[in-house]
Amino acid sequence: MTQEQRIAEICAAHAAQEGPLLPILHDVQAEFGCVDAAAERVIAHELNLSRAEVHGVVSFYHDFTAEPDPRPCIELCRAEACQARGVEALVAAAETAAGERVQLKTVYCLGLCSVGPAARVGDRLHARLDQASLVKLVQLT
Ligand code: FES
Repeated sequence: MTQEQRIAEICAAHAAQEGPLLPILHDVQAEFGCVDAAAERVIAHELNLSRAEVHGVVSFYHDFTAEPDPRPCIELCRAEACQARGVEALVAAAETAAGERVQLKTVYCLGLCSVGPAARVGDRLHARLDQASLVKLVQLT
């Protein structure tokens, strides 16, 4: 099965949903590590949208990338509750620890607002982070 066929299959699986574009984009990103121009064309064709419409959504959300990034990823919440709990004071140390080896992505709320600052690595959530624990998390990722 080609990538194009697989993406068409993903589109078909969401065809009955209302607003299928975002779930399709998430599935394509998860399976191929990116939503590239070829994927945008297939999705646009399958959903009867223009490529510009699909690209507009892909480029709006940070979750979608045009190229796969093989580096491990830490998603650090920088939404209001985590800001109130001090996340901004941790960012510089996390960025230094991450360097070029680890992707440090900003996300907005992981549902752990009362126990922030919070981060996610893959499916694992980490709460009550301080500078030492966040740097350690980056180093172990
Ligand atoms: Fe950070 Fe909700 S604001 S987990």
